[in-house]
Amino acid sequence: MFDSGVGGLTVLHECLVSLPEEDFVYLGDTAWFPYGVKDPEALRARIRSIAELLLGGRAKLLVIACNTATSIGEDVAREVGETHGVEVVPVVEPQAEIAAAITDSGRVGVLATPNTVESGAYRRALESQHRALEVTEVEAPDLAPFIQDGSPFDAGVLEMARAYCAPLKRAEVDTLILGCTHYPLVAPMLQRILGRDVRLVSGGHAVAAAVQRTLERDGLARSLAGEGTYSFLCTGDVDSFCDLGTRFLQMPLGEVERVEIPGAG
Ligand code: DGL
Repeated sequence: MFDSGVGGLTVLHECLVSLPEEDFVYLGDTAWFPYGVKDPEALRARIRSIAELLLGGRAKLLVIACNTATSIGEDVAREVGETHGVEVVPVVEPQAEIAAAITDSGRVGVLATPNTVESGAYRRALESQHRALEVTEVEAPDLAPFIQDGSPFDAGVLEMARAYCAPLKRAEVDTLILGCTHYPLVAPMLQRILGRDVRLVSGGHAVAAAVQRTLERDGLARSLAGEGTYSFLCTGDVDSFCDLGTRFLQMPLGEVERVEIPGAG
């Protein structure tokens, strides 16, 4: 499983809860955070190198626990997966399926990074759900960096959240896709601003269900009872990964190893 930093730990959290018997290796590319405003071509090269590194181990499945990486480089990760005979689970499509299934009015919002919105990945995924949907997408360039910074939530972040929610309120969405792995940490704020009837669709639940389905379909699910292992790699400072990581994972992290991504800038 990989992400641009610690945000994907919200996805890992759901996988650890839903699939406790499986083993997980998580790579947080903190040296390259944020992916949301990086040059897409450079990002695709980076995603290829990360997928190669992870699949050079003995992974039976590759999870892209990052909305921006999915939007910009899902095809690249799948190419690498194919060469290793490994299936890839992305984060966008499973969320789009859930959103289309639960919206009553058909008005769906997407809050995501600039790269994710500009890629059109959610719009395409929602358009392929065989249901007429009115999609309102909002770019939130500052929200993930603020959350990752680890500063206490203050009036400033509340104002930021209000500004990003304003077009969603105007569009009267009844379902909002949290199109970035960091946003579950501000879900209570978003819920309060948008109103309690608006359904928030986070990546974690959707991905954990997709991982389970894929493992069962391919006969790869571990049948032994008990708890598997989980471990961490990061490309940036290990101490700050540990400090922030526990907040996102809501579990102890244990050992974190620093890695370089071969052949990437
Ligand atoms: N994991 C990234 C995402 O879900 C966090 C934001 C970023 O790296 O810019 O889009």
